[in-house]
Amino acid sequence: MNILYISISGNTRSFVTRMQDFAKQKHSENPDFPIIHAKEIHDNSLEQAETEPFFAVVPTYLEGGNGIDSGDKEILTEALRDYIAFEDNATLCLGVIGGGNKNFNYQYCLTAKQYAEQFQVPFLADFELRGNSNEIETIYVTLSKYWQKHVS
Ligand SMILES: Cc1cc2nc3c(=O)[nH]c(=O)nc-3n(C[C@H](O)[C@H](O)[C@H](O)COP(=O)(O)O)c2cc1C
Repeated sequence: MNILYISISGNTRSFVTRMQDFAKQKHSENPDFPIIHAKEIHDNSLEQAETEPFFAVVPTYLEGGNGIDSGDKEILTEALRDYIAFEDNATLCLGVIGGGNKNFNYQYCLTAKQYAEQFQVPFLADFELRGNSNEIETIYVTLSKYWQKHVS
């Protein structure tokens, strides 16, 4: 199963890498559990037309994002939004997973919710900061079930 993600300070990268390790372990116990192919998008990534379905994982950075003001403008992660908007990539996006920090109250994981709205895909899950092992296991199981239902 494929994941595209962006990470500014490393939390989302850590979450995805640890979920990949968990997927490998589950796959070795039972090959029905899919391994994860992950691709990190950077500001200087070349936009490419994807050929297979994918999930998108995006952390939240908002201008004025302090949980009190009504900041809702995405900053720093636009490269992933642009990548998904490139050619027909959005049609291959199965859903979005958001990273954030609950201290930001209603703005928690707002960027992922905005992607879901823009690309008309489901907001599938959220995790805080680097994600704990419970979040990694639960989200992996959710995504694998979704993948098996919609792709394999
Ligand atoms: C300047 C700044 C603004 C942020 N704004 C939000 C926010 O509006 N909502 C939220 O849930 N998290 C917010 N966060 C928390 C980040 O989304 C969180 O730390 C995330 O794990 C960062 O992922 P990354 O390390 O992969 O870049 C903000 C963090 C920073 C540094």
